[in-house]
Amino acid sequence: MSSHREEKVRRLAAPDIAARKGGDPIVCLTAYTAPMAEILDDHCDLLLVGDSVGMVMHGLPNTVGVTMEMMILHGQAVMRGARRAMVVIDMPFGSYEAGPEQAYANAARIMKETGAQAVKVESGPTVPETINYLVRRGIPVMGHIGLRPQAVLTDGAFKAKGKTDDERLRILAEAEATADAGAFSVVVEGVAEGLARDITEALHVPTIGIGASAACDGQILVVDDMLGLFDWTPKFVRRYADLRGEIGRAVAAYRDDVRTRRFPAVSETYFAKKPA
Ligand code: KIV
Repeated sequence: MSSHREEKVRRLAAPDIAARKGGDPIVCLTAYTAPMAEILDDHCDLLLVGDSVGMVMHGLPNTVGVTMEMMILHGQAVMRGARRAMVVIDMPFGSYEAGPEQAYANAARIMKETGAQAVKVESGPTVPETINYLVRRGIPVMGHIGLRPQAVLTDGAFKAKGKTDDERLRILAEAEATADAGAFSVVVEGVAEGLARDITEALHVPTIGIGASAACDGQILVVDDMLGLFDWTPKFVRRYADLRGEIGRAVAAYRDDVRTRRFPAVSETYFAKKPA
């Protein structure tokens, strides 16, 4: 008899997510490690190995320094942990912006070396052409519009988008171009409710919001944010746990037990067998 982990489970793929447009909200979180992916898999439709991994797991100031190697290593780990959720891997800054051929070579490498179901790209003005090139060659692509973290150096900071009429029209046009290019869904980050609603109504594929209101077809959060692992989170994050406090309390108890020799106890100790 096979164990629970060995049972065959069909993994969700791009068409399954695309078919959820306007239906039950799509549940997404980021994931970076195998054990976390295993926990999230029971509850999520889609796990994103976001390039936020650079900030969350590696202490980088932004996502610009994230490499292909980091994305592949964390992508492989998440694929080992998750069985049912679709796994999408971010293409890091510098791996797709030069043009469709550069993007294809790097996206194909990510797909082959991780086994993930799709890649995600931040969709600025030049990117829809690249999305179309990848999709026509068999690589499912998720787009990302609105606040684009990889543009932090040109934007100057992580700022909410769509505050002027011009910017709202530009973002709506970028969203439409991204979907028309063949993206199976589009992450919408850091925009006001009205714009998120207009984008969701305009696109034939699902929108996945982060800081973009309940108007989207699904939601995504950075898992470490919603579990309360940081001492600060932006306004749009709901903290469902206080793991930072919980870990601090556990480690303080361990420290006290070590210092007072209450750890390890006899039950936690190996003893040599007495000679017969
Ligand atoms: O890198 C990331 O975690 C993301 C999400 C914020 C959508 O792109």
